[in-house]
Amino acid sequence: MSNPLRDPQDRRLPRIAGPCVLVIFGVTGDLATTKLMPAVYDLANRGLLPPGFALVGFARRDWAHQDFARIVHAAVKRHARTPFREEVWRQLSEGIRFVSGQIGDDEAMGRLSVTIAELDEARGTGGNHAFYLSIPPKLFDVVVNQLRETGLAAQADGRWSRVVIEKPFGHDLKSAQELNRIVSSVFSSSSVFRIDHYLGKETVQNMLALRFANQLFEPIWNNSYIDHVQITMAEEGGIGGRAGYYDGIGAARDVIQNHLMQLLALTAMEEPTSFDARQLRAEKRKVLEAVSVPHRLDLHAARGRYGAGWAGGTQVKSYLTEDQILPSSTTETYAAIRVDIDNRRWAGVPFYLRTGKRLARRVTEVALGFKRAPHLPFTRTETEELGYNAMVMRIQPDEGVTLRFGAKVPGTQMEIREVSMDFAYGGSFTESSPEAYERLILDVLLGDPPLFPQHQEVELSWQILDPVLDFWAEQDAAVRSRRGTAAVDGGPQEYEPGGWGPTSADEMLARDGFSWRRP
Ligand code: BG6
Repeated sequence: MSNPLRDPQDRRLPRIAGPCVLVIFGVTGDLATTKLMPAVYDLANRGLLPPGFALVGFARRDWAHQDFARIVHAAVKRHARTPFREEVWRQLSEGIRFVSGQIGDDEAMGRLSVTIAELDEARGTGGNHAFYLSIPPKLFDVVVNQLRETGLAAQADGRWSRVVIEKPFGHDLKSAQELNRIVSSVFSSSSVFRIDHYLGKETVQNMLALRFANQLFEPIWNNSYIDHVQITMAEEGGIGGRAGYYDGIGAARDVIQNHLMQLLALTAMEEPTSFDARQLRAEKRKVLEAVSVPHRLDLHAARGRYGAGWAGGTQVKSYLTEDQILPSSTTETYAAIRVDIDNRRWAGVPFYLRTGKRLARRVTEVALGFKRAPHLPFTRTETEELGYNAMVMRIQPDEGVTLRFGAKVPGTQMEIREVSMDFAYGGSFTESSPEAYERLILDVLLGDPPLFPQHQEVELSWQILDPVLDFWAEQDAAVRSRRGTAAVDGGPQEYEPGGWGPTSADEMLARDGFSWRRP
């Protein structure tokens, strides 16, 4: 019975998922091991999963239920955020099952159906099922169609069936539309949960709090005060063992199309009337519809590829000599683009998005650069060390917000120097932030959609990026036809590992009179 004193709108009370089964396809993959299984445990440990919960893994391995449970156990021990508690594990492991089979094999799907039906009986999971597709997109339609044929996608008598889709959502607008068509032919839009794990990060959600819970920032959050915005997602690591996924995808498709476009949307959108999914998505969609890339992409986009060298005290390989990468690859590991937003708030304010692997350090941030004061009643030498005012939302690590402005250096003379005012999560809150996947998996099980991009947003992001990808593809084709190999000029520019990317990206900003921040 529901508590009559509980306000259904009160988001402070812990939200606990109802009885259900979570099925993970592609459960032997890296994502499942390092993120999904630990997140499930962390949710259980926080008391957010009901006793009637079950986890089913589906993969090719010839495992029994206990073998899979051992794998989950190891993943949890190694990667869970919260401490390991035997009693939580015991309760969770009783609901763990494994179904061995090839994707597309009807018999295996039949076995999955039987396993789920048994769980519904034995564990009281109530006929509610979430299917997490952590598999290559070319297999989506096979699984989705099988879910329809077996009746697992059906929702009736208050039971629900949801599908969770990991990126990449296609590799361009056309393929994304095709994927969306396939998925929506089986699942209604309210049952489709597309994961962009950046939206599950606390600091990303805090962008909404910062902008819309305060009066302080709104008056200056526009082109009267801001002259440019830099959104950075830098990583120290290379591609690791992910050549199969990464090559042919590259930095722009891997990160700009999804994570950075979402950060841009949250930075630039108008205030939604509420945070319900419909309102929030409508505002994100509206701002993405106003985004365009410049006409001259040779001047306003840059791409690079890491070379060999030293990074963080170790010698690292170049991208082209990583395992399974062909020397003819033209995949970029760094991408930077300028976009403009054609609306009243942002006209004339360029947004620069950059991402790269093997850069100086791991950092994601959104930095608003403010205009210079229209008049400085100081001499030039007095303000020599004054940069531009900036507000930096630090997404990770070192989560927080920084304001940069000029202050007088103590002394009898007048000298202005840049200083920082800082909010750090660690200093203000004692609770640690849940992992993005904890929040997102819980939301799937609750059927709570605001943090999941809708198909229109995904398609709009491709629509924005497609001209850049086409431009680079044309460059590569031209180089290939001229020289017989694409690994010469015209392709991605090589950059040193442990630095801040190719010089072409610096030139791209310098042309507009700016320079990249050193986060
Ligand atoms: C993923 C990308 O979406 O995000 C990876 O596919 C990248 O290439 C990862 O390494 C980074 O995530 P995070 O949460 O560590 O910033």
